[in-house]
Amino acid sequence: MANKPKLIVANWKMNLGHEISKFLANDIAAGLLDYSFNNLKIIICPSFISLQEVNEIFKKSKLDINIGAQDVFWEAPGAYTGEISPIFLKEIGCHYVIIGHSERRFYLHETNNMINQKIKSALAEEITPILCVGETQEERKEGTVDHLIIGQIKDALEGVVFSPNQKIIIAYEPNWIIGTGQTLSPEEVARIVRLIKKYFTDHYSSEFVENSLMVIYGGSINSRNIKSFVQQEVIDGFGVGGASLKADEFIKIIKSV
Ligand code: PGA
Repeated sequence: MANKPKLIVANWKMNLGHEISKFLANDIAAGLLDYSFNNLKIIICPSFISLQEVNEIFKKSKLDINIGAQDVFWEAPGAYTGEISPIFLKEIGCHYVIIGHSERRFYLHETNNMINQKIKSALAEEITPILCVGETQEERKEGTVDHLIIGQIKDALEGVVFSPNQKIIIAYEPNWIIGTGQTLSPEEVARIVRLIKKYFTDHYSSEFVENSLMVIYGGSINSRNIKSFVQQEVIDGFGVGGASLKADEFIKIIKSV
């Protein structure tokens, strides 16, 4: 596992309109032009309306930066007003999708069952889900974190049988840390990442764990605190929200990883 590339997932959420998204993508591309990042994978998740153009900007820059969607619907094309099918994502070259972000669980009342259907529909198109799991502050105080996280993973993957081309990224993102400026200790994050990896080691083949699974951490990551997390080898990468909205700050994070 030591040679696995690290991963950075930038989630722009609903922060940026189309024009600003293009500016930011261009600024990131310009800032990384002379920088080689062999052992690092970057996925940038703008809003649906900017996916295609942001993708074009990175393709033109020849940087190996992928785009990801922030959500997906579980049905094939049909009469589902406002939704986006994984087939449409695939068509525009989007190979990653965030599923079950805590903001969607909270504001849109997404349930584990809905998340499970979204995972299945994404995998069917060979789009890699970035499955978000994590606890609330109350759940952490109650001491139910480990049980809860494994429960979220089990529910999300219920009935899923991975074929050789299908992969998954688990993003451990405690919702009381997201966007608050607080962080968990790197040691505690590493412990949770180990717990998640152990669950997969116990239930999936070693080949799957080695080649098709990554476990990352997200929650108020910035250029100042990233270094202490990078030291924890077991963490495969980072989800970055607020700090990915400014090119300089995001590039600093990339360089630190
Ligand atoms: P944040 O968001 O970095 O702003 O805390 C992280 C996320 O939601 O992935």
